[in-house]
Amino acid sequence: MCGIVGYVGYRSVVDILLDGLEQLEYRGYDSSGIAVKCENDIKVYKAIGKLNNLREELKSHVSEFSKSTMGIGHIRWATHGAPTVLNAHPHTCNHGDLVLVHNGIIENYKELRERLEKRGCVFKSQTDTEVAAHLIADKYNETGDLTEAVRLATKEIEGAYALCVMHNDHRTTIVATKRNAPLLVGLGDGEYLIASDVPAIIKYTKKAMYLTDNQIVTVTPNSIKLINQEGVEVPQKIEMLPWEPVALSKMGYKHFMLKEIHEQPDVIRNILVGKLHTAAEPVILNEVKLTKDTLKKLNRIQIIACGTSLHAAMVGKYLIETFCGISVDVEASSEYIYRQTVTDEHTLVIGVSQSGETADTLTAIKQAKSKGSHILIITNRPDSSMAREADSLLSVNAGIEVSVAATKSYIAQLMAFYLLSLYMAEIKESTDLSIIQSIKNELMLLPQKIEQVLSNTDEIQKCARKYSGTKDFIYIARGINLPTALEGALKLKEISYINATGYAAGELKHGPIAMLDESMPVLSILMKGIVYEKLLSNSEEAKARNARMIALTNSNDPKLDELFDCIIRVPEVQEFLSPILAVIPLQLIAYYIAEFLGKDVDQPRNLAKSVTVE
Ligand code: AGP
Repeated sequence: MCGIVGYVGYRSVVDILLDGLEQLEYRGYDSSGIAVKCENDIKVYKAIGKLNNLREELKSHVSEFSKSTMGIGHIRWATHGAPTVLNAHPHTCNHGDLVLVHNGIIENYKELRERLEKRGCVFKSQTDTEVAAHLIADKYNETGDLTEAVRLATKEIEGAYALCVMHNDHRTTIVATKRNAPLLVGLGDGEYLIASDVPAIIKYTKKAMYLTDNQIVTVTPNSIKLINQEGVEVPQKIEMLPWEPVALSKMGYKHFMLKEIHEQPDVIRNILVGKLHTAAEPVILNEVKLTKDTLKKLNRIQIIACGTSLHAAMVGKYLIETFCGISVDVEASSEYIYRQTVTDEHTLVIGVSQSGETADTLTAIKQAKSKGSHILIITNRPDSSMAREADSLLSVNAGIEVSVAATKSYIAQLMAFYLLSLYMAEIKESTDLSIIQSIKNELMLLPQKIEQVLSNTDEIQKCARKYSGTKDFIYIARGINLPTALEGALKLKEISYINATGYAAGELKHGPIAMLDESMPVLSILMKGIVYEKLLSNSEEAKARNARMIALTNSNDPKLDELFDCIIRVPEVQEFLSPILAVIPLQLIAYYIAEFLGKDVDQPRNLAKSVTVE
């Protein structure tokens, strides 16, 4: 993960670096640091913890860098070495003249370190990154050319990296490069910015160039040069970013997560625009570039994703298999990439990712692409690395999601799967039109129903308070809501650190039921439909083991009052669409429990919004 920024130009560099790092905090927040070219030397400042700690640290050094106009910065998500000041970036070579920041993992760092130590390099940190500083400095000593030093060094580095490098000999030059990690250069008037992601530069320029793997860029305030790893100059593909600077605001909510939960009705309205007009008209999905004929013949789909996106993928499988009769495999990207998958040019491979940058999913997508599969990407970031790999790009338009815990992007991904499955079913004529139309009708009513849930959260808050002291939490469901149970548990785990697990209710009796006693909360997702009665029986079984029972339901069945200690109700909805309504109270339960426990809701420990390492 980690985020990097660089600036060379005429403005006061420290403000720009801090501003950029703040925009990249979603990539990690274990520690941060900057290096600034000052009058005679390069000064490095670091702090552990949130970016504010670095801001505080810098307050007593303003006179050292107030005139500086070149620097690099880093925000870290620790991979190699604990989050300490020594391990924080920027890292330097022995004499401190060469400094760099890095995002990614250098896989052969042990061999490189041994070799460099033999040559007299003294390592100060436990990071993989420090080898790059020593190695590039070594090459610089041989060549006296910073770009060439970076080029030669990266030929020896294996793994993933985005690097931004400065040297004390050069008052106005930054060199940057990347492989399997995102990096772009913003082009201003007399200034250049380098960053891991658009939000860090968009305030200053919309003109940008994405680096492709192994390209090396050298910028000074008035020049830019791009070469490939062979040292040959290559054309620059400059584009205008379709972005506006957004002032990220909580809009009066205590946390971004709560704000984003409340945005969900509008997220649904947005995604329906232009795609679903009336129940009688077919779904329009111009984004899908497969011909109708290919879609009709398609008999195999693979969906790959991680975390919350994986749960959306599981709902997608249910919908596509039910409405389209096409066999769908869903797989965690991290598993998909290390086994022999049966993927070929007849397979449609769908990658699902909020960020579009998740390393495991990106690698899996590239793998499938190399086997000739059509790649459909469902993402919230149409400018991401995954989007650039797509043959078909379905952008879910949920707006920037700041909170590490995904909420509105999940709803948007679910909507993408409803639209996609209905679109394919209409082309294949694989489902009765009356069923398709009734789903479309209800899809359009979902925003109001979610608003109903959000307008009265008393019962949800009561329930959250009641169970906030628990150490464990079990969610059970069946069928299309099994992913909802998994997602509810994931939300609770990641922001409250409670050991929460989602189970297929029928599996309870095959093992997990042994854990049940009077201390264990069991939340049963009881949506009316084909699995309702079965789930009720599974809930009875849990109750018989004295578990603390909670129901999340759209039923008014009086039996529930005897069985459950706490009942959270959502509006009437048909079973196919129930995952959208059912997940809202689960997001809120997780939110309120974490809030009652005083946790850092938007930036939970050990996590990052975008997981760019495998
Ligand atoms: C969700 O709350 C998590 N933060 C995490 O599981 C996330 O969904 C996962 O890392 C995948 O991210 P992506 O959707 O950006 O690929």
